[in-house]
Amino acid sequence: MMTARGALISFEGIDGAGKSSHVQACADWLRSQGLTVVLTREPGGSELAESIRQLLLTQEMQPDTEALLAFAARNDHLNRVIRPALAAGHWVVCDRFTDSTFAYQGGGAGVDPGRLAMLEQWVHGDLKPDRTYLFDLPPAVAAERRAAARAADRFEAREDSYFERVRAAYRQRRHADPDRFLVVDAGAALEDIRRLVLDDLTACLRRWPGAGGGRA
Ligand code: TYD
Repeated sequence: MMTARGALISFEGIDGAGKSSHVQACADWLRSQGLTVVLTREPGGSELAESIRQLLLTQEMQPDTEALLAFAARNDHLNRVIRPALAAGHWVVCDRFTDSTFAYQGGGAGVDPGRLAMLEQWVHGDLKPDRTYLFDLPPAVAAERRAAARAADRFEAREDSYFERVRAAYRQRRHADPDRFLVVDAGAALEDIRRLVLDDLTACLRRWPGAGGGRA
């Protein structure tokens, strides 16, 4: 008998793209469909990984160190939270995942993507998100949104050219795995974005056999 497993959904995008409210709406909607949902985030999502998040967001460090810490946090998060949830047939909705490391440390800060791919293979092998919503927005617009919001952390304070590279790296990830990604125009009206994401989730639920109690 094949073991049922749930689905892993991730949300990605540059800071200020406005993905966070949609992450919550996605989890709420899946719950309304009777699914058990674990809503989590990276870096973080487990006690140890949340401690690493504090370091990443507040301490100055080399990009390689950032990448290693991001994957160390991810390893703990996967082992303690994500894998057990998926094995129980639950759905995991994650605010950022490995695409963020390729985008920020790889594209933004210049860490060799080949090294990141090695870490990706080491830490999660064949496990990858079943669906990824990539919130795409020009960095200048995202910067205006960030300025209107709360105080910036270490990443959010960086200039537009950094976020141009982050955005380009996201697009490369999508190009390499087009079926996994849905690119969302983050400049669209909130309601339109919500509808797009929920319609897509509806289609995923239909497409994935066994979804609802876990996938075969
Ligand atoms: P974010 O998830 O956007 O949280 P908040 O909404 O509270 O700002 O912030 C996390 C930051 O960490 C974001 O700037 C992206 C960065 N980050 C990396 O640089 N590498 C990673 O692997 C991950 C997961 C995040």
